[in-house]
Amino acid sequence: MKKIFIVICASALLFSCGGGDKTEKKNAAVPASKDAAASTNPLEDKAIEIVGKSDCTTCHKINEASTGPAWKDVAKKYENTDANIKMLVSKVIKGGQGNWGTVPMTAHPNLSEEDVTTIVKYIFTLK
Ligand code: HEC
Repeated sequence: MKKIFIVICASALLFSCGGGDKTEKKNAAVPASKDAAASTNPLEDKAIEIVGKSDCTTCHKINEASTGPAWKDVAKKYENTDANIKMLVSKVIKGGQGNWGTVPMTAHPNLSEEDVTTIVKYIFTLK
């Protein structure tokens, strides 16, 4: 009986982890458990979906520099703070140059601030 109860609890936990951005903070407070490896990262899934609809990967790779810097290097260059997230989101939407060299990044005015924030937060997980 006890075993069944534990299984039910574990699956309830698993399901609650699959939720959207809103549950993210709550989940972070849950101590890491053995099923952590099995659960997917909703932030990563969402970010990759948005990236897939945009043109980011024509200029960016995760691990190596291409036309633009490797996203891993972006994550290393900046501290993961609200101010830096805002700055990078605005840079992606408005475009610009000068932080990595003279090649400019194109503007992405068709992406919402929310979507770009998801991507930037994902980039910070790549360190
Ligand atoms: C036309 C090529 C191109 C495309 C498309 C592009 N980027 Fe960039 N990106 C660049 C270049 C070049 C830089 C370096 C700019 C600089 O030197 O400040 C850059 C820089 C960045 C940075 C770091 C900005 C900084 O100031 O340090 C982030 C984050 C980023 N890109 C994310 C994205 C995302 C997300 C997308 C898709 C929505 C995207 N890029 C699409 C070329 C591109």
